[in-house]
Amino acid sequence: MKITILTLFPSMFEPFRTESIIKRAIQNQIVEVDVVDIRDFSLDKHRHVDDTPYGGGAGMVIRVDVLDRAIKSVRNENSKVLLMTPQGRRYDQKLAEEFSKLDDIVIVCGHYEGFDERVLNYVDEEISIGDYVLTGGELAAMVVADSVIRLQKGATKDESHEDDSFSTGLLEYPQFTRPPLYDGFSVPEVLINGNHAKIREYRLYESLKKTYIRRPDLIEKYDLTPEMNKMLEKIKKEI
Ligand SMILES: C[S@@+](CC[C@H](N)C(=O)[O-])C[C@H]1O[C@@H](n2cnc3c(N)ncnc32)[C@H](O)[C@@H]1O
Repeated sequence: MKITILTLFPSMFEPFRTESIIKRAIQNQIVEVDVVDIRDFSLDKHRHVDDTPYGGGAGMVIRVDVLDRAIKSVRNENSKVLLMTPQGRRYDQKLAEEFSKLDDIVIVCGHYEGFDERVLNYVDEEISIGDYVLTGGELAAMVVADSVIRLQKGATKDESHEDDSFSTGLLEYPQFTRPPLYDGFSVPEVLINGNHAKIREYRLYESLKKTYIRRPDLIEKYDLTPEMNKMLEKIKKEI
């Protein structure tokens, strides 16, 4: 898979590309992450990429011609071009899974007041990472790239994301590690005794309980098995 990020601030992606799981995925050629400076597509000798908005108002708007040239320089017939914007489709694990199957993703980061609306003619999808406004699309692009890269085969152990929150449709069960007792707080006995059937049951129960308490909307959408329904009845009595 190849991910190309179009940004006015390429250096923001250096730590992203050179640490931990993403660094290893790049080194192992599981993913190629290219970062392209939008400013390289300015035809202005001062490398301007933005201008004041028509109709007046605060801030600067990134020009459509500059963005069009930048996008054209990197996209191919397989590319999916994503525009980072708070006005876009809300990003979630389902979309991450969908995007993780693509071969070529181009992510366009806005900045300042945003971009000339006509850029929508040159992108495939507008993506928002949540209902808040960032100064630029760079952190949003990292969120999308990171969540997609960790789903690539070989980037992490498959089992490490199979049970992740949202992958199963539920929140993940609680996790514990050594020491077994810390400051009076102990690890649930069932996780220490090595009985795998009991561990599975405990995890399913706790995952359902957490989801029911914190995200009942997820439970409503979930097709519960008879075992889960039974557990849920118990949970409702317990809390
Ligand atoms: C200050 S914001 C512009 C917001 C724009 N004026 C509006 O009200 O919709 C600058 C850039 O940050 C990025 N951005 C901000 N919030 C975002 C979010 N929640 N999701 C994705 N990108 C975001 C976009 O690329 C946007 O063009």
